[in-house]
Amino acid sequence: MRQSLVIGNWKMNGSLQNNQALLQGLIQGSDEALQKKMGVCVPFVYLQQIKDLLKNTVISWGSQDLSEQDSGAFTGEIAGSMLIDFGCKYAIVGHSERRSLYNESDELVAKKFAKAQKSGLIPVLCIGELLEEREAGKTENVVKRQLDAVINSQGIAALANSVIAYEPVWAIGTGKTAFPQQAQDVHAFIRQDIANRDATIAENVQLLYGGSVKGSNAAELFAMSDIDGGLIGGASLKADDFLTICQAA
Ligand code: PGA
Repeated sequence: MRQSLVIGNWKMNGSLQNNQALLQGLIQGSDEALQKKMGVCVPFVYLQQIKDLLKNTVISWGSQDLSEQDSGAFTGEIAGSMLIDFGCKYAIVGHSERRSLYNESDELVAKKFAKAQKSGLIPVLCIGELLEEREAGKTENVVKRQLDAVINSQGIAALANSVIAYEPVWAIGTGKTAFPQQAQDVHAFIRQDIANRDATIAENVQLLYGGSVKGSNAAELFAMSDIDGGLIGGASLKADDFLTICQAA
């Protein structure tokens, strides 16, 4: 039985004051059972604050990226070992904004995935197609290519200790959510593609859906058999909205 998981991706949002209010709202509005399903991936500079505020809870936290390098002369980069110092459990890798705005290739994402695991973090691997790719009937090819970049370099066993987030790029931040069945179809494809190589890993890996998930559509998405939770952007910035989504998982 897969555990549900809902991760908030704060992106480049927050302030000391707002973070505190948001996290206090999440803590006050949840019991331990709900908190076990909850995670927040925050800007690097707030990790100490988040660690302090969440230390007596079972809410998990993590980063939105990490370096593919260990340490050294890489100005501006953040290593996996540093994230471990701040109590991170997760590191998002390959978010579509990193892929498109910062030119991260499938190969680089695979290296970041590997570095996260070697550092002791659970990578949250984001995959998903652009609108034109969907319209051209290439959705399955694209998500398979993005997944294969990790599997072919790290081996199928690496997926055992990871989370995969399917996020159709056309649904991110646009208010256009995939229909539950549309999302389920891709999730089922991903799980089957993994099962073709390892049935146990396929059965156990958590597959999250992301892209304009809100309190009003979360329940029908999470009711789908291969959707194990969500990666939430905009709606993770308000405690009430995020709590409603977590309750739906
Ligand atoms: P959104 O973002 O919920 O604001 O669409 C999701 C994401 O980018 O992870």
